[in-house]
Amino acid sequence: MNVVIDLLPSPHQYLSHAVDLFVGWPLSATRKSVDKRRAADFDVDVWESGFFPRQPLARLPRAYAAWERALDSAATELSLWEDESDEAAAKRVSGEAWRQQVRSWPVIDTEPLQCNLRLAQRAHLVLAWLVHYYVHSAPEPAPGQPFVVPKSLAVPLVAISQHLGIAPILTFADTVLWNWEFIDASKPFSIDNMRFVNLFSGTEDERNFYLTSAQAEFRGIEMLRIIDEYNNLPNIEGDMTAISKVARDLARLAGIIADISDIIQGVRAVVDPHVFYWDLRPWFEGSDAKGPEAPGWVYEGVEDSDALDLSGPSAGQSSVMHALDVFLDVDHKLRSRRYPAPSAENKRADHGFMDRMRRYMPGKHRDYLTWISTPSARAAGRVSLRELAGRTPQLREPFDNAVMALKKLRDLHMRIACLYIVTQSRTTPSAYAGCPVASMMERLQKSRAAGEGPTRGTGGNELSLLLKAGRDATRRTLLKDN
Ligand code: HEM
Repeated sequence: MNVVIDLLPSPHQYLSHAVDLFVGWPLSATRKSVDKRRAADFDVDVWESGFFPRQPLARLPRAYAAWERALDSAATELSLWEDESDEAAAKRVSGEAWRQQVRSWPVIDTEPLQCNLRLAQRAHLVLAWLVHYYVHSAPEPAPGQPFVVPKSLAVPLVAISQHLGIAPILTFADTVLWNWEFIDASKPFSIDNMRFVNLFSGTEDERNFYLTSAQAEFRGIEMLRIIDEYNNLPNIEGDMTAISKVARDLARLAGIIADISDIIQGVRAVVDPHVFYWDLRPWFEGSDAKGPEAPGWVYEGVEDSDALDLSGPSAGQSSVMHALDVFLDVDHKLRSRRYPAPSAENKRADHGFMDRMRRYMPGKHRDYLTWISTPSARAAGRVSLRELAGRTPQLREPFDNAVMALKKLRDLHMRIACLYIVTQSRTTPSAYAGCPVASMMERLQKSRAAGEGPTRGTGGNELSLLLKAGRDATRRTLLKDN
């Protein structure tokens, strides 16, 4: 029943359709001649829940109970293979039994789930978590050999991922957008009524890490409305009322971005960098996390398994952050001639990262981003926001203020990434220090440390180059330098 309710438009959407019909005939008329689609057609709710579903995802039907049960028991029965603490070592036997059980499952058909978007998303979440549990609890393969993900997980995960248009691995959606339940089911959707459910490390730090990303995502919903309203304004150029509205909305946007910066900064109070780096992040790693020399993953029973997108989750997959870049026209790919010119370092960075991260989003959300970046999403004749601001003196400064807010966000985010990853890669996991396996941990620590190559982010990219290039591309969006 929840699922049915969830797919209906919200009361706000009914209201907005009604208002359009009543007052907005020129608006509706213009829209209809261009493109009839709305954000809701892309499973985006600009009023209430943004990219989140409005209800928590229900558990899978009985035919898939084995998957759900394995996920329920995973945290108690498995430990990270690279964790040599007594507590982790005590779980090796139950871990092998869990993995053995998973290998013994038949390949279950996911087609019955494909008629319901929320069930398909739930299947993705469950299978993707199981894959990461499986791989990261398993012994390292022999030299030169890959990790093999058994077909009982690999085949259905690839099938459901193809259906959803999302990568067949743990994503931002599986850890943040879909990984929650209501604290109080009688209360409506709100960030304060969300509790994150699946946790690898079982720590409050991990729960808070997901919550921080969710807060940023939640704060971005107002921005989605601003985008929607901009695209739907019937007239802009020469219309002082409309221009004043856009200027006010740009000021609001700068405020939203500043709030998201504060949210990101807030992670420091609730997530211990050491716990993040040593207890949580290893579970996130995808096939390419440790670079080209380390063993990759093979999906048993899947043709061309090496062509799959198998990097792990990253907030770089947050559709809110991408929507922000699209709306302000940040050029991560260095396709436009903008100033200050890219540095040699900028040119060396991975310019395809943000585009690649879109393949880790639910397909409908990716389509939404493509849609809002094309003129067909805008009222007839409407130019992009940056173009309009460039030729409208009253909008130049408000536009640049919003861009500066985003540049500041990326500056701050770089400092957080440095604190949580680069600095931590040079530390020792405290739980193991002084224990008999300290030397093994030292080896591990060394292999992760910068000395053996650059500190890597999701997809094995060079982290600092990547984040700096994103910050500099944002700066290049400023009108005053161009
Ligand atoms: C402890 C907190 C965080 C850490 C350690 C962290 C770390 C990173 C790292 C290492 C990357 C590089 C790409 C990758 O490896 O995936 C990245 C990218 C990114 N992160 Fe975070 N992040 C954190 C929190 C957040 C939050 C709360 C957001 C907001 C939603 C966010 C937004 C982004 C975005 C948009 C990117 C893509 C690159 C860019 O736009 O500059 N991060 N993050």
